[in-house]
Amino acid sequence: IESLIKGETDIIANVANVVSALKYGLNFFWIGCYFVKDMQLVLGPFQGTIACTRIDFGKGVCGKAWKLKETIIVLDVNQFDGHIACSSESQSEIVIPLLDINGDVFLVLDVDSNQLNDFDETDKIYLQQVVELLAQTLI
Ligand code: SME
Repeated sequence: IESLIKGETDIIANVANVVSALKYGLNFFWIGCYFVKDMQLVLGPFQGTIACTRIDFGKGVCGKAWKLKETIIVLDVNQFDGHIACSSESQSEIVIPLLDINGDVFLVLDVDSNQLNDFDETDKIYLQQVVELLAQTLI
């Protein structure tokens, strides 16, 4: 991932390639990002089936990760109050926020699995590192 985005300063280009690398490297059901725009999350580059385009602050797993500024792991999306189901195939999910230098959430990375209980602390550690690398693009 580091060498993939090295030398490119455009965040959209880097997110697009990172999402593709994760999709084809890890083979999760859906991987993509949502950008914070005018107090909503708006769909950005993704790999997978079509997805909802806008998510309000605090809504769903993505909106909650934005609000809390924290990574959220959901082992069973059916048990998550307010989960936004873009596909009935999604069973578990991890959402990692990317914070800019002011500490504001710039985007969230969303990874969905069609298996229950598919994410753990290891995914969290390494996906947060990936998001950290993307954050360098903003500096
Ligand atoms: N499930 C997310 C919505 C985005 S899709 O999974 C692509 C949520 O609850 O925020």
